[in-house]
Amino acid sequence: MKILITGGAGFIGSHVVRQFVNNYPNYHIFNLDKLTYAGNLENLKDIENKPNYTFIKADITNETFINNLFEKHQFERVIHLAAESHVDRSILHPLAFVNTNVIGTIILLNAFKNTWEDNFKNKLFYHISTDEVYGALGQTGLFKETTAYHPNSPYSASKASSDHFVRAYGETYGIPYVITNCSNNYGPNQFPEKLIPLFINNIINNKPLPVYGDGNYTRDWLYVKDHAVAIDLVFHKGKNLETYNIGGFNEWKNINLVTLLCQQMDKKLNREKGASEKLITYVKDRPGHDLRYAIDASKINKELGWKPSVTFEQGLDKTIDWYLENEVWLKSVTSGDYQSYYDRQYS
Ligand code: NAD
Ligand code: DAU
Repeated sequence: MKILITGGAGFIGSHVVRQFVNNYPNYHIFNLDKLTYAGNLENLKDIENKPNYTFIKADITNETFINNLFEKHQFERVIHLAAESHVDRSILHPLAFVNTNVIGTIILLNAFKNTWEDNFKNKLFYHISTDEVYGALGQTGLFKETTAYHPNSPYSASKASSDHFVRAYGETYGIPYVITNCSNNYGPNQFPEKLIPLFINNIINNKPLPVYGDGNYTRDWLYVKDHAVAIDLVFHKGKNLETYNIGGFNEWKNINLVTLLCQQMDKKLNREKGASEKLITYVKDRPGHDLRYAIDASKINKELGWKPSVTFEQGLDKTIDWYLENEVWLKSVTSGDYQSYYDRQYS
């Protein structure tokens, strides 16, 4: 089977590529990635020479290239992760998010449709989405697959739009698809603009930890390798035209999470108790900041038997170890453009 994975050099994508390349020698995995600031081939060093793996540097918004590529390789299945993924950047540059997340998805859908029209048997367009499309919860309640979409940021609006297009292509043209909406991922290889790796990097460098607003915002956290396993399961056993929510059953208020992270980091770095917590700095809130996300992942649990394999404390421990052992990776991705983004965002 020829599988096209988009965004495979990014955080989640690299774990998905590894999961498929290592576990399915009979599949050929084509990883297509533009290598934006968030994509990094270092993430895939361990599998880059495997015979069932090919990397293609390309932009999903390049329609001619994508059409020719589908014509040449006839990908039977697509796992689509390529996206602009950071909420704060979407507030600075919304159009980039519309381009990649909406237009790019439609270009892929068209190429897939045109390749397999009238012969969709055993084909699949698997679209990776986010719980942010559902908007914000109050202090109670959970996002279900049936929750109405109510995106609040340019990022989540672009992801919601792409989800709608995938569903519309299923209804209108009959393309087989599945969509998964996952909560906040954390783990190795995450770009240090997102909360956990940003704060790990700042603690290492004794820099302030910029907590937005009062820190009482809540997210549900999932270890990235557990997400990759869930994607593998849905890819093989998910029902056509269905949506599955994926979450960690693991809600944390930001300030409590940051406090736990500080405590674990103090131990790892042999710093005195409380040293990292002193770096916590409350800063201006994110505009349109969603109060709380929480996922009801009972459908994937009951239907496909998936559940997270690690607790948050275990996952965080592995994550911190990875960043401490990969300071070269961390230094290389935080050189260059990173500093100008950081200064603009946190000045
Ligand atoms: P990421 O930003 O780490 O990686 C995105 C990858 O896409 C990068 O390798 C980048 O180079 C590539 N890319 C961006 N624009 C491209 C383009 N125009 N053409 C080709 N490649 C391009 O993102 P991530 O956190 O790994 O997220 C992956 C997917 O999962 C996204 O669709 C995101 O919306 C979704 N998601 C993320 C999370 C999370 O917590 N990180 C949670 C739920 C869903
Ligand atoms: O819920 C899934 C989503 O999770 C994914 O779709 C997105 O791609 C991913 O980026 C993530 O979005 P969030 O906005 O929730 O993640 P982020 O790490 O940016 O922020 C997590 C929380 O921490 C959020 O409440 C904002 C807060 N925060 C974040 C940063 C970067 C801070 O307080 N300070 C910060 O510097």
